[in-house]
Amino acid sequence: MRIFIKKSERIGLAVMERENIPEIYAMINDPDVNRFLRNPSSIWYLSGEYEWYDNLCRDANRNRVFPVINLETDQLLGLIGLHNIDFKNGFATVGYMYGKTFWGNGFATEALKLLMDYSFNVLNLRKLIASVFDSNIASKKVLENNGFNIIGKYTKHSYAPDAGYQDEILFEFMNTNYHYPDS
Ligand SMILES: CC(C)(COP(=O)(O)OP(=O)(O)OC[C@H]1O[C@@H](n2cnc3c(N)ncnc32)[C@H](O)[C@@H]1OP(=O)(O)O)[C@@H](O)C(=O)NCCC(=O)NCCS
Repeated sequence: MRIFIKKSERIGLAVMERENIPEIYAMINDPDVNRFLRNPSSIWYLSGEYEWYDNLCRDANRNRVFPVINLETDQLLGLIGLHNIDFKNGFATVGYMYGKTFWGNGFATEALKLLMDYSFNVLNLRKLIASVFDSNIASKKVLENNGFNIIGKYTKHSYAPDAGYQDEILFEFMNTNYHYPDS
């Protein structure tokens, strides 16, 4: 049984289960998926993925990662999550990845919309941030489609296999509906 924290008509953000790990393991070891991620030269071992899951369960106040589920087919399309959640200052970093066969269907854009709803209306965060390799056109679009603004870049910051050092573009989204206690 899947438990959802947010749903649209097509997709839902689900609570991660241990049995989701083999699919995630296959996804993250696909070079086309991991080349834009933080440590593209890693090898993600299955046992390491289970450890990551156990840490996620222990550490829900710091990191919350959700499988994105196609509600029609029940397929796990990818993951989206909040990392380094800072409840005191009200912000978190967004991250996501999807299986290659699901790209280009608007799922990533739609899932980020759901995550923003969850972040602002459930967790009462003020701001979301993200950083993306400049060459990752699709990911930049996902953020721009959801109203994120570019606030700067790190030049030749991160190494991507076969592409060399990449500029990293920094994005943020301010929740303008947030009510500051002193205003
Ligand atoms: C980046 C990623 C999340 C996009 O997922 P997706 O489900 O294909 O995204 P969407 O379908 O919502 O598409 C968003 C936009 O990017 C465009 N797009 C998709 N793939 C593209 C590509 N290869 N080149 C250029 N544009 C592309 C879409 O046409 C869409 O544009 P539109 O809104 O103007 O129509 C997915 O490709 C992925 O998981 N990549 C590997 C992991 C990764 O890069 N994670 C992000 C790290 S910051």
